[in-house]
Amino acid sequence: MAAPAGGAAADPAAVERGAVIYRGGTCPVCHHWEGQGNRRGPDLTDEEWLHGDGSLAAVRAAIETGFRHGAGRRFRGKYEMWPLGGMELDEGDVDALTAYVWSLHRRRRAADTLTREVVSRIAFGSGADQDRAQPIWDTVLALRPQLMLMLGNNVLAGTEDMRDLRVEYDKLTLQPGFAELRSRSRFMATWNDLDFGREDGGADFDKRAESQQMFLDFWNEPPGSPRRQQQGVYTAQRFGPPGRRLQVVLLDTRYGRGPLWQASPDEARRRERLGMGPYLPNDHERARMLSEEQWRWLEEQLRQPADLRLIVTSIPFVMEFTGWESWANMPNERQRLIDLMRDTGATGVLLLSGDTPWADVSRLEGEVPYPLWDFTSGPLNGRGTAGIGPNRHRVGQATREPNFGYIEVDWTAADPEIRVEVRSVANRSLLHQTLRLSELQPK
Ligand code: HEC
Repeated sequence: MAAPAGGAAADPAAVERGAVIYRGGTCPVCHHWEGQGNRRGPDLTDEEWLHGDGSLAAVRAAIETGFRHGAGRRFRGKYEMWPLGGMELDEGDVDALTAYVWSLHRRRRAADTLTREVVSRIAFGSGADQDRAQPIWDTVLALRPQLMLMLGNNVLAGTEDMRDLRVEYDKLTLQPGFAELRSRSRFMATWNDLDFGREDGGADFDKRAESQQMFLDFWNEPPGSPRRQQQGVYTAQRFGPPGRRLQVVLLDTRYGRGPLWQASPDEARRRERLGMGPYLPNDHERARMLSEEQWRWLEEQLRQPADLRLIVTSIPFVMEFTGWESWANMPNERQRLIDLMRDTGATGVLLLSGDTPWADVSRLEGEVPYPLWDFTSGPLNGRGTAGIGPNRHRVGQATREPNFGYIEVDWTAADPEIRVEVRSVANRSLLHQTLRLSELQPK
């Protein structure tokens, strides 16, 4: 964005005076109380200016000349904006009003989450055993990902003692390749049960608030971040200009998650032989994967404009039915996310998930607005003893080799190409899928 021309915008007294003029004038009728816009006029707080470059001069020109019917209109609505919103204002008033409107936009930018960088190389992974070597980081490093997404079980701590949890995090810090990658790539992280603190735990875990702060400390979340005030570690970020805009949404499937339903011991033993876990679908209407607060936040995120959206969930979303932790254990919540995608018209969604000791590609079709892909990656190192569980949405073959996920987006193509892979420590492609952005929207 252009730098402020002149000192008015930097002057808090002018901004304050401008706010009084704004609220006392006609502006809220069409732009709402805080500039968030309504049916009559556009949002003045977002990063997309319909007219001009967002500089002080451009904002001032818009306010002075207004927008009458005819050529040059960009906002779809039947109202005109008269010069100065039809108000009588002197030069000083216009300066102040300009400063206020300009600052609205800046304030939102500071709190939000849009950076200009075009992101086309993204790595992701889950399940890192801090007590063993993690040679995989060198392989990830060689691909120079701009973004590294940590899907949870970032340490296999599995301790409810917060001091012990800190010790386990320290071991991850000491992994040589990890430290190197951290200094070169931007990291975004969510947690799963073992770094949350209770195995297969959820809202029942009494130390979850403490654990959240420790998690945020480890991942360098600044002290004033909203992520430190809310309940849970969910977060989102958008990158790049319209047309090449990536949105990354990290969910928290732990903090607000309700109870899971377990199979009987007999049934659990029978399942074990099939590589299945002990959980049953809990179709109770109050079953919760995400808190209501997180659902509301997610809806807001899905309404933000973006071209490609990566929704990160620590446990598989599409995969069905393994009996291990997955969204299939709460079918109503799973459906709710599908409905939310439909209601918000969110296109370009891919899901990334972890938790399982194997990597898998799943595709859901028919009950969704467009094919819904879920790429499950894990573990980053080590090898579990469990076999590969059943999955009726599986595409191709699953693998138990240690792995990480890697996405490359070719934004230069008219219909951007998205290549998603699961790669081995030796940088061999184990699973891969190439999609066009146009395949991720309703036909
Ligand atoms: C009767 C409705 C109405 C009123 C009152 C009104 N506006 Fe507007 N305003 C609009 C419309 C409609 C547009 C968008 C025009 C278009 O592009 O079609 C707009 C555009 C703008 C823009 C440019 C936004 C952009 O994205 O480039 C600014 C800045 C603005 N208004 C500020 C104000 C201020 C400040 C006031 C109060 C003095 C005000 N408006 C009063 C309807 C109104």
